[in-house]
Amino acid sequence: MFQLNDKTALVTGGGSGIGKAVALTFARQGATVHVLDVNQDQAAQTADEITGAGGKAFSHTCDVTRQQEVVEKFRSIGKLDILVNSAGVSHIGKVETTQEQDFDRVFQVNVKGVYNCLFAAIPLMKENGGGAILNLGSIAANLGLPDRFAYSMSKGAVQAMTLSVAKDYLHDGIRCNSISPARVHTPFVDGFLAKNYPGQEQEMFEKLSKTQPIGRMAKPDEIAGLVLYLCSDEASFITGNDYPIDGGFVKLNN
Ligand SMILES: NC(=O)c1ccc[n+]([C@@H]2O[C@H](COP(=O)([O-])OP(=O)(O)OC[C@H]3O[C@@H](n4cnc5c(N)ncnc54)[C@H](O)[C@@H]3O)[C@@H](O)[C@H]2O)c1
Repeated sequence: MFQLNDKTALVTGGGSGIGKAVALTFARQGATVHVLDVNQDQAAQTADEITGAGGKAFSHTCDVTRQQEVVEKFRSIGKLDILVNSAGVSHIGKVETTQEQDFDRVFQVNVKGVYNCLFAAIPLMKENGGGAILNLGSIAANLGLPDRFAYSMSKGAVQAMTLSVAKDYLHDGIRCNSISPARVHTPFVDGFLAKNYPGQEQEMFEKLSKTQPIGRMAKPDEIAGLVLYLCSDEASFITGNDYPIDGGFVKLNN
């Protein structure tokens, strides 16, 4: 089960965290993986890890906010069975502490970047007779979290785009789903702690870990397992859904 032999997958943000874990997992299951990231070194490192372990991978430097760059990159890949949109950025702040440039940056990467990749991928998937798309949402879209104004907005848009694409391409064999993790221990979280809580990183890490009723943050591999399932042929009856993967955050925090 969950074999991806003969499938070509593209993972945005594949140079780090969840995207990297997804790329490594897909490769282990037999896929040819295109690792796309704005960070050239990190993209190359993921691809090297895959090929070093006997898998098939290519790295691409690309900024998902630039439509022409994205379209050209996807066209150069040609065949595409699976797209995972994991590239993302965050901003901590409420409305008053979210400046226009903060809002624009989060919007450009998390919303327009996903749109650009969908725009580039769907014609290729149609040509190919179908495909599977998985977008990284967040629990921040489903409940009111403090100080996540722009980020929550962006993940709400991701969920809405997921539904729209799932509906519009039902009869083209393209499935589109999203997942909504709670906190996952990746460089995304470490960077956020270093920037916002200098000197108190460990204390805040413990505090944030405990906000998941299960008592810890997720590991990237745990997220990659759900992504693999949703992108595999075993999930062929699943489209237009969002799946929480949150250690009980949404329903058990009482
Ligand atoms: N880590 C968490 O707790 C968590 C929780 C819920 C959702 N998510 C979502 O999961 C996704 C991945 O998060 P992560 O924790 O792995 O983050 P990460 O920071 O470890 O990795 C994100 C990757 O995206 C790349 N990237 C950023 N901007 C880009 C751009 N313009 N073009 C191309 N690549 C770009 C970065 O270079 C990086 O390699 C994000 O969409 C994030 O919002 C993360």
